[in-house]
Amino acid sequence: MGKILVKGGLPLRGRVKISGAKNASLALLCAAIMAKNKIVLENVPNISDIRVMIEVINSIGASASWESQETLQIVPPQKLHAGAPFHLVKKLRASNLLLGPMLARFGQATIALPGGCNIGVRPMDLHFKGLIGLGASLSLEHGCVCGSTDNRLQGASIYLDFPSVGATENIMMAACLAKGQTLIENAAKEPEIVDLSNFLNAMGAKVRGAGTDVIKISGVDSLEGGIRFPVIPDRIEAGTFMVAAAATGGDVTIENMIPAHVQPLSAKLREANAGVIEGGDTLRVFVEGPLKPIDIKTMPYPGFPTDMQSQLMAMLSVVPGTSVLVENIFENRFMVADELKRMGARIKVEGRMAVIEGVEALEGTHVKATDLRAGAALIVAGLIASGETEICNVTYIDRGYHNLEEKLRSLGAIISRK
Ligand code: EPZ
Repeated sequence: MGKILVKGGLPLRGRVKISGAKNASLALLCAAIMAKNKIVLENVPNISDIRVMIEVINSIGASASWESQETLQIVPPQKLHAGAPFHLVKKLRASNLLLGPMLARFGQATIALPGGCNIGVRPMDLHFKGLIGLGASLSLEHGCVCGSTDNRLQGASIYLDFPSVGATENIMMAACLAKGQTLIENAAKEPEIVDLSNFLNAMGAKVRGAGTDVIKISGVDSLEGGIRFPVIPDRIEAGTFMVAAAATGGDVTIENMIPAHVQPLSAKLREANAGVIEGGDTLRVFVEGPLKPIDIKTMPYPGFPTDMQSQLMAMLSVVPGTSVLVENIFENRFMVADELKRMGARIKVEGRMAVIEGVEALEGTHVKATDLRAGAALIVAGLIASGETEICNVTYIDRGYHNLEEKLRSLGAIISRK
């Protein structure tokens, strides 16, 4: 599984360029199979989740390959070869985003159920509610969800009990090729939803309102494709560097990012007494005085992102005073607390709440990544701990961060892999 070694105590200083968004790229790769002609996606991060998704869409009949380091070309399937196999889907739950596109384009879909993961059960009931609302028949057979439509999907009004990112994406993609108009109410508003909508419209779809609570899709007969499309920068990678800069008392300018996408985090870092200065496609984080304790509640966008909660926990573990984190999105996303406590942190977890009492310093030791963002949080912890921290299970980190050690080394970090 590989290990990362981090020597703590040095402030991060300099400039770093952010890669394309993992979660936008995963959705766009699924949407691309609906097109008639070749698609080229630019600014795609070359990370393991993307490489697995390439395997998944190729397994169902597409032909996706790297044109260059961050440019992917996808030749959509003319017909389905097979369903998405379990051995691939279990590695990447986002494969479930193929359900809507396969039903819309081919009238059938077989996707192995992704199952839960360490941060929560992660059901798909809202995905199913929306697709059934569009006229699909779904059944669970031998651990797979099998879908079919006798005729074309039919537009409908669908209310999401929770603004689920994945369910919004699956329904939006399916509705593009449905007959008539679809309304998605209480839709997710994340930037990745807006990027997917822009991509679908560039392929010839008619999607309006992405980024608001109500998305309106007017179905079209086909999606031409034949376009080049740049993926938005990864706001969570950007946020991870923002937190690392503040936590180490450094001064870092982040390039190739969209400051508006990280506003909830910028506001919290300013509340914690860090400096945050926004540029056009850059953002500078610096520290001039002691950080202050803050309280965080994770919420759907534009609330504070759950994917930044673990990284904040690491930073706040050495901020004098009491900080309170409430995780409202996933039911088991405090696993990193146990590893931080092994480094000397004082954190009390009660259900959805974690209370952090800032300590003088963390001590480097052996810790293990339990999920992608917990792994990133342990790197932040290693950067501020005394001594050396050895992080195992780093394949979790490789799922979502491209060249993370190299980028951190360019900012002065002493970090390596063994
Ligand atoms: C996406 O997951 C992201 N993944 C996650 O990022 C992110 O944490 C999450 O959105 C929230 O922002 C991708 O985009 C590939 P949800 P998704 O559906 O779509 C419940 C990372 O680290 N729910 O918005 O699975 C669910 O249990 C990953 O990059 C239902 O109840 O998130 C959870 O409690 C981790 N029924 C909440 O909604 C459903 O049908 C949020 O889930 C679907 C979801």
